[in-house]
This record gives sequence, C-alpha cells and structure tokens, in this order.
Amino acid sequence: MRIRSRAVVAVVGLLALAGCTGDAQPDPSAPGTASAGPDAPVRVSADGHVDNAYAGASMYVDADWTSNVLASAGEADDAVLAASMRAVSGEPTAVWLDRIQAVTGTATERGLEEHLDAAVAQASQDPDGEPVVVTLVVYDLPGRDCHALASSGELAATDADMARYRSEYIDVIADLLARDEYRVLRIVTVIEPDSLPNLVTNADDEACQAAAPYYREGVVYALDAFAPLEHVYAYLDAGHAGWLGWTDNAEAAVALFADVAGQTRAGLTTVDGFVTDVAGYTPLEEPFLEASDLVDGTPVSDASFYASNPDLDEAAWAADLHARVLAAGFPDTTGIVIDTSRNGWGGIGRPAAASSSTTLDTYVDESRVDRRVHRGAWCNPEGAGLGERPVAEPEGYPDAHLDAFMWVKPPGESDGSSRLVANDQGKGFDPMCDPTYTSDRLDGALTHALPDAPISGAWFPAQFAQLVANAYPAVGSEGGDGSSPDALAGSCSAVLTITDSWSSGYVADVTVTAGAPLSTWSVTLPPGTVLDDLWNGVEADGRITPLEWNATLDAGGTANFGYVGAGDTPAAGALACASA
Ligand code: BGC
Repeated sequence: MRIRSRAVVAVVGLLALAGCTGDAQPDPSAPGTASAGPDAPVRVSADGHVDNAYAGASMYVDADWTSNVLASAGEADDAVLAASMRAVSGEPTAVWLDRIQAVTGTATERGLEEHLDAAVAQASQDPDGEPVVVTLVVYDLPGRDCHALASSGELAATDADMARYRSEYIDVIADLLARDEYRVLRIVTVIEPDSLPNLVTNADDEACQAAAPYYREGVVYALDAFAPLEHVYAYLDAGHAGWLGWTDNAEAAVALFADVAGQTRAGLTTVDGFVTDVAGYTPLEEPFLEASDLVDGTPVSDASFYASNPDLDEAAWAADLHARVLAAGFPDTTGIVIDTSRNGWGGIGRPAAASSSTTLDTYVDESRVDRRVHRGAWCNPEGAGLGERPVAEPEGYPDAHLDAFMWVKPPGESDGSSRLVANDQGKGFDPMCDPTYTSDRLDGALTHALPDAPISGAWFPAQFAQLVANAYPAVGSEGGDGSSPDALAGSCSAVLTITDSWSSGYVADVTVTAGAPLSTWSVTLPPGTVLDDLWNGVEADGRITPLEWNATLDAGGTANFGYVGAGDTPAAGALACASA
C-alpha cells in the first residue's frame, strides 16, 4: 500500500470564477502551483494517511440500515425477494450527518459517537485485523439544496446560521473525530453533496445566489477542520455524468473545485478525492452505447436523451473528471469514489443488446440501460436497482482511478416526499417527487417518481423492494472479491442488536445471514463478552456455533441467536461471521 505523507502547504494563487457560470474558464496558471514544500510539517498517525482509505480496509456496516432492511425482508410477501434483501443486509453504507442532532444523537437515533464506537467494535472483530473505514456525509450547509426543496435543511443562508454551522456542527464533528480512540479508524468525509455542483449550473437561481458564499466558506471551513487529522480523508462531491458531464459544466466545476480547495490552508492537497453520483441514478456503464458511435450519421451523444453530453455514464465522467482535476493541479494520488447504491438498472426492463433501429433517438432509447424518462429525473425514479456492491479498488475502469464503489446514499432511504409532509427537519416538498407532476426540466414529461414516498432520508419500503428486485448485478450473481456478504459461496454476515439493557447487563440478538448455502456458521462475540444466558447457539472460546436445527441456511436465509450479557453494553453492529 502506498503511504502518502500530507504536508501543510500554503497556496499562493487563487482562481477567480466569473460568477460561477457554465462559461467560466479555468486559469491554468493558478491552483496547479500547490505542492508540499521540503520543510513542511508532515502529519503522521497510527498507520499514516494512505493514498486510498478504502484499500486494505473493511467498510463500516451501519446496524440501523441493516435493521431497516431486515424489517422490510420480514414484511415482504415474496420469499425470493425477502432472501435477496437479507443477502444484502450486511452491506456497508455511509452515515449521513444531515443535521446537528444527527451528530449529537437523539433519544431514538444514534449519534456520531455511537457510530464511531460501533466501527471500533467492528474493527476489533475483523478476522484479518483490517482497519475499518467509515464513510461520513457532511451535509448541513446554510441554504442547503438551493435548487430543490426536498432536502432543504435546518440552517438558512445567513451569517448567524453560518456561525452555527461552524461551531455547532463542523467543530463538534472534528472534535469527535480527533479523539484518540477513533484514530484506529479511517474516516472518509464526503463534503456537502450537491453544493458546489449547484453553484456551477444553477447560478441563476436566487436561492443558490444567496447560498453561494456560504457554500464556499462552509466547504473551506470543513476541509480545514478535518485536514489536520491524519486518519480523516476528504472527498468533494462532483455531481454526476448527467449533471456536470457537458464540457462547459465540467470545466466550470473543476475550476470551482480548485478555487475552493485552493483557499484552504493546505491547498489542493487537502482533498483526497471526489465522489460522483451521490444519491444519483446515472449508470456506471452504458454497455451498448458509445458517445461517438454514429447512427444515421449522428453521434449517439447528440440523441435527445444525452443532449450533446459526451459522458454517457459514470465511468466516463469519473475518467473525464480525473483527467481534469489533475490538469488543474490536484495531486496525482487523487482518487474517485462512485456511489453505486442505486444506479444498477437491472430487472426485466434492462435491454440485453443494442437496438437495431436506424433512427437515433429510437436507437438510444432502446439501447440504454438508464430507463428514466429524462436524465434530470432525480427523485425516487421508477425502475432503478441496486448497483455494484461496495468494494475497494474496483477493477475494469483504469482511466477512472477508482478508490471504491460505495453505497453513499443508503438504498431504501427516500429522495423526497411525493406530497408535502410536515416535519421538523426543514424538508420541503419538491414537485419532482410527485408522480403526477409534468416538469419543464424533463421536457414536459411526468416525473415517474414512485408514489407515496416519505420525506428525504426516511425509510421507503416500496423503493427498497424495487431496488433489490432490479439490482444490477442481480443479488447473489456477482463474482466479487469476497468483501461483499453476498459475493462468495460460504460467506455470511452477522449483525448484533441490543434489545434491552440495564446498569449491569443487557440482552442481545444476533441475526446471521447466509450469502450462499451454508452447512454451518460461527460468529465471534465482542471481546470480553460474559454470558449469563444463551439461546439458539453454543459457545466455545468466544465464538457461537449453531444448534443442529439452525445450522443449515439457504442463500439469503437467516438464523438468530440471543444472549444475556453481564457488564457494559457493547456497541450494536456487525460481528465477524465465518462459514465454519
Ligand atoms: C436527505 C438526508 C438523508 C440522506 C440519506 C438526503 O436526501 O436530505 O436527510 O440523510 O438523503 O438518505
């Protein structure tokens, strides 16, 4: 593994953007000058600041997401679908810090400290002793989601709320991450999805104009707050192919990224990489389409669906983005993460071959796996499926310089409500989430959003069922490298839930899910567990093995055991599970 020393450097040149419009041009002389001086102090942590935080690490499994998935599986009428849901229930997902209380926690919701404790517990269980990488989404800027209403937030675009963002949100996160006990973790921060991309393409929107200075200031503040922490990695959000892929937008976006990152104390080296398709639906690959292929003399990218955007898919945008950010002066260690949580587009509607039509639009519409009515349909679209399972260093896209596929948007969490729903999070109603709404932004088409959706972030069982049914690769079908619970024959995952606790003990329930047919399994309990009682399993040397009747599991099948533990209550979360 390549260890990269990061140094604190000053950036001299700053790039001025002409009002962040799509026609702003990057100044090649400016941000590319950032480099580590020979005497700059080098930050060092337990295992150093590595090039790719995901490489050689296992990813944090959020037990709250797992319990939502298992609850949906329990309610599903279709046994095959339920088994597929269980098979993905141990996948890692990001933790969204989408308001101040998501950091502190509430009576019913785990805060950041609890998640980090659970990640440390997961690391202590790792059979290979790998570090755990936690992906945190930093998402509470003043005037958030300026061009839409579904994810507007608690902070307004005002100086007073900017001060709250700094002191009640970013400083609190940074203080927690800085604690000694969390330095064993690798923490990837996804900085403020949609914020800088909105400044590129929605500069005419008054709300975005009001929010723009706060977005810039907030992103710089967050980057500076996390940069001194060697175990923390910063990734800027870079929209997706169907948003920033047009050449004008791509140029303006990269100029803006360089300008904003260039204003941090360490300059462009503060940024470890970029994340694309966060909460998006643009497919990783359009297997039957190339932008430059000609149909009746016209390139595919000129079809109505692509509107002259040369980047048809995320693989193309990631490669395009990577080349551009390096040219703008970002370090050559810069990696790209793609959010593949919901960009799968499998199921029965997926085309199996290119169309034979000689009419360009028909050819593209019959060949594309992205089956949305328009690439701008961003809210709970019909037909989407889970995408590639999270994995570090995915192969097959050398130009994209991928650090990982990650499920940044936890699949099954809504993009926005289909009608106004009262809430105390500042979330509004965006008609793009209403299936009866025809939108100019979709060239006059209906949105094709799923009906009866709850507010953004809330669990949406019907959407989760659709995503699992339309997964691509289909659940259980992928080769994989064994890091996904559903990838390898014989694999299993186990999730610990605390169902009761008191001052000197607790009751725990563990769900074991088979990724493939199993004849037996074993689960390692958290270190130091003292059992007062155990049911549906046998204990030896801190490991639980099944009884005869719950040993054999079909792919996607589950078994449960429970116990009463003495002493401190352990963190809920993933436990190490082995097939023997
Ligand atoms: C919502 C957040 C939520 C996130 C993940 C966003 O669209 O606004 O509240 O945490 O999605 O589901």
